[in-house]
Amino acid sequence: MLYLSNFITMVWYQLTFKPQPLPDDIRLDGLTAIVTGANVGLGFEAAKELASHGLSRLILAVRDLSKGEAAKAEVSREAPECDILIWQLDQESWESMVAFAKRASAELDRLDIVLLNAGLKRLEFTRSPTGHEAHVQINYLGTALLSLLLVEPLRRTSQQKGKPSRMTITGSSVAFSAPVQDILEPKGGKGIISWLDDPASFVPGISRYKPSKLLGVLWTRALAARLDSANIILNTLNPGWCNSSFHRVDASAEWMSKFLAWSSAEGGYHLTDAAVRHPDSHGEYLSEQRIRPVPNLVSSAKGKEVQNKLWDETTSLIRAECPDANIEEFTRVE
Ligand SMILES: NC(=O)c1ccc[n+]([C@@H]2O[C@H](COP(=O)([O-])OP(=O)(O)OC[C@H]3O[C@@H](n4cnc5c(N)ncnc54)[C@H](OP(=O)(O)O)[C@@H]3O)[C@@H](O)[C@H]2O)c1
Repeated sequence: MLYLSNFITMVWYQLTFKPQPLPDDIRLDGLTAIVTGANVGLGFEAAKELASHGLSRLILAVRDLSKGEAAKAEVSREAPECDILIWQLDQESWESMVAFAKRASAELDRLDIVLLNAGLKRLEFTRSPTGHEAHVQINYLGTALLSLLLVEPLRRTSQQKGKPSRMTITGSSVAFSAPVQDILEPKGGKGIISWLDDPASFVPGISRYKPSKLLGVLWTRALAARLDSANIILNTLNPGWCNSSFHRVDASAEWMSKFLAWSSAEGGYHLTDAAVRHPDSHGEYLSEQRIRPVPNLVSSAKGKEVQNKLWDETTSLIRAECPDANIEEFTRVE
């Protein structure tokens, strides 16, 4: 029932809402931004839009440096004044993510905007080299780790400039049609992440993509509750259904894209809108470029309980599996 009503709502907005680019008078001169998953799709389009509003320095975080070079060439054509750097980042590797964040802390004199956007969809169960299911690793754990590690340079910058820096996580409305009961109370007394890592609980299709995005919403709220919005405004957003290489593994989604999808550029507008506008959006979820209430399953007392459980599980897991991350330094409650 929830799935059907979410689907109808999604179709309605795809057909009636027109995503808007940033207004022309928004200027980002002097600012530095990081965009993950920046070589293609929504991340690429968002990076290009930020650069075209006067951004001074843009870090394209990419798995493959040669794809990053191609993206840089295109962004540079639109925004020749922007200093564009290509940094390697693989969210399936703890080492790569820690090295990336240390580089950001050491080499950037300022960091104003972080768009944590990289993600994937698969229809089969696959594991990342870390041992976690691939959506859990890339979409959730990788994003969560980077969000912690990049607090330091964002906070430092906000203290220098006397106004908040921005961090935005790309989510999806499918988060709210995830099999909630399994996440609220995983069977067999398992933890949330170990339940999702278990192939026995996998149903072919997007049964891992959806929960990976629900965890992203819960994580955003958990981390936001530990950050002072005077220093960092953290939010998450649904970019809508968009044409990109994202649906290539999913024939029925590719087919539906013909009728429903916005362009990658229109998807990118949602990312830049969330990362630059909406100063009142700390901890919030945006969809159709507006702050939207989250469903009861997230905002209820039970949702809060799960959010806290997820925070504890995630930070314990990172401490155990990625000790170099030294997250204590970044999780100081302000
Ligand atoms: N398109 C949609 O309809 C839609 C709807 C809702 C939400 N979203 C979300 O929007 C975000 C962007 O999706 P998109 O449509 O732009 O898809 P896309 O065109 O497939 O781009 C995904 C990006 O993520 C990167 N990525 C994948 N695995 C990675 C890893 N292990 N480490 C680092 N980067 C990795 C990809 O790099 P490579 O090119 O090297 O693979 C690519 O740059 C995702 O978080 C997705 O869940 C998309």
